[in-house]
Amino acid sequence: MRLILLEEYDERTMELARPIYDRHRRVLLAAGRKIHPKYVERLKQMDICYVFVEDAVSEGITLEELLDMPSWMDAIEVVQQAFDAVRKGEELPLRSLFKLAVKLVDEVKKRKVLAVIPATSIAMEVQPYAHAVNVALLSLQLGKKMNCNDLQLRDLALGALLHDIGKALEGEEHHTVKGFEYLRKERELSLLCAHVAYQHHEHVNGSGTPRGLTETSIHLYAQICAIADEYENLISVEFVPPHEALEIIMARSGIRYSQQLVRLFVETIPAYLPGTMVKMSDGRNAIVTKIIEHMQRPYIRYTDTHEEIALADHPSLLIVGQTIL
Ligand SMILES: [Fe+2]
Ligand SMILES: [Fe+2]
Repeated sequence: MRLILLEEYDERTMELARPIYDRHRRVLLAAGRKIHPKYVERLKQMDICYVFVEDAVSEGITLEELLDMPSWMDAIEVVQQAFDAVRKGEELPLRSLFKLAVKLVDEVKKRKVLAVIPATSIAMEVQPYAHAVNVALLSLQLGKKMNCNDLQLRDLALGALLHDIGKALEGEEHHTVKGFEYLRKERELSLLCAHVAYQHHEHVNGSGTPRGLTETSIHLYAQICAIADEYENLISVEFVPPHEALEIIMARSGIRYSQQLVRLFVETIPAYLPGTMVKMSDGRNAIVTKIIEHMQRPYIRYTDTHEEIALADHPSLLIVGQTIL
């Protein structure tokens, strides 16, 4: 199985490996089916840009590094309920949110690797909620790397899940302030969650919004969320491959993000997703098959000989670029 851009889809050689979901989070196309060319157009109109496919080259790749679709959908539903509640002026579904936060913490704690499913793998209407779930998963990985305890991780997850909640009240521009004002009144939520919403667009050099805070006055959770937010946008909305997204974030370290946090983030996030076609420094083509431990040194399988090797055991061998089949 591998994740491809919808425009790379080839009906002759590929079938769906994971279902495609519509805006009601219902299965639109089941796994095992082929996507008819007419349907490809419909999916594009729904702003679905990524699909999971099974084909000969990706045989045997399981993508266990990603969350399963049902768990992802359940998480998205909870965030959607929260946004809907805010829009309608109803109570936040706090119990479900707390339950989800604990579940995501467990998921991240039990895994060595967790890569996110791009938010643009589902219909446009639900993408903002998928974005929030992904930002929470990415934030938690950095939180775990920093040895945060369970309670800290839970609050970090809640803050990340709700970081854009102000958009349910205001739209893009003032969502940080609106989100803060809304969340600070929720007595059962830590005030830190409100601060994640407030500060996630601040930059460590003072060039961010809404207050132009600098590194020492931006709360750690908001700094973590800011990195996760940017990474998620790069891979989901701008279709930047993970290794390039990490490069972009590294280039902004010390400017937008703390250098120390960026360094840790890069150690926690896989540079290449299994299923990625790559060119190796020995000139041969290969496919990334799995990531066991080392985020920058996955297992690869040569496309000509099908020999699989762990890059961790071959220090001189490098991935020099990504290729398209
Ligand atoms: Fe935001
Ligand atoms: Fe965001």
